[in-house]
Amino acid sequence: MLSCVNGAFSERWYQVAVTNGKQADRLEAEWGDIITPDKMADALKAKSYEAVTIVHNETSTGVENPLKELAAVVHDVSPNTLILVDAVSSMGGVKIETDAWGVDFILTSSQKCFAMPPGMSFAAVSDRALERAEKVENRGWYFDLLRLEKHRIKNSTPMTPTMSLIWALDVQLDKMLAEGLDNRFARHQAMAERVQSWAVEHGMEPLAPQGYRSKTVSTIKNLRGVDIAALNKFLLTKGMRLSNGYGDLKNKTFRIAHMGETKMHHVDELLEAFEAFMENM
Ligand SMILES: Cc1ncc(COP(=O)(O)O)c(C=O)c1O
Repeated sequence: MLSCVNGAFSERWYQVAVTNGKQADRLEAEWGDIITPDKMADALKAKSYEAVTIVHNETSTGVENPLKELAAVVHDVSPNTLILVDAVSSMGGVKIETDAWGVDFILTSSQKCFAMPPGMSFAAVSDRALERAEKVENRGWYFDLLRLEKHRIKNSTPMTPTMSLIWALDVQLDKMLAEGLDNRFARHQAMAERVQSWAVEHGMEPLAPQGYRSKTVSTIKNLRGVDIAALNKFLLTKGMRLSNGYGDLKNKTFRIAHMGETKMHHVDELLEAFEAFMENM
């Protein structure tokens, strides 16, 4: 398989492949850069792969990889290669056209843009991925797609489901539909633009290049040398906090999440407090 790696979570997916005994090659970009369709095309021309893995929204770097374009290249250059996507921090906040783009497997989890407690994950699987699964001998049990599908069509699960979260999901999906998906996506985009333009106005800038900046989490270069730990101590007195940079990006960047049920007034409140902190630096 070919693992696209341009951040912490795509690195982790590569590690998942290797620790499961899969032969995986890395298609890398710097943390903060995107995986380009050209690089993908070159890699697929050089070698045949059963699957590619792509993290749509790299939560560590605030980069949104160009999934539609990457999927188009895979279909064009290597039509038998399955496209597997981690959309943990984008699905529900960003429009993803799974069928139209020809994605074979896409997964997300309850605690990001669905704004629920952690503990549940969701996936959509293409017919051809299910057909391919039939040829796999050791599919395990809990994550055997064929077993899951057999039960899914009977509105059931092969194992004990997490009923408390399923009831919560029922409530949350009603809330999401009442807002309207397009409105929800527009709200995420507007919050991202607000945070990212605020950063520039205050002498900082997003790590991701223009056009590929995440709509759900902004990773901002800490160009003002803000003491992130002290900032969080101050923010916590007001019931808020932001995230330090991930791994090597710690203190060099910070991350502001604007996803799920976060609204523009929450973002405004955070940025106002951030400004007050910087005035006293
Ligand atoms: C893109 C992405 N993939 C996967 C995960 C899952 O990681 P964990 O199980 O440690 O929450 C996360 C969590 O933040 C994520 O952002």
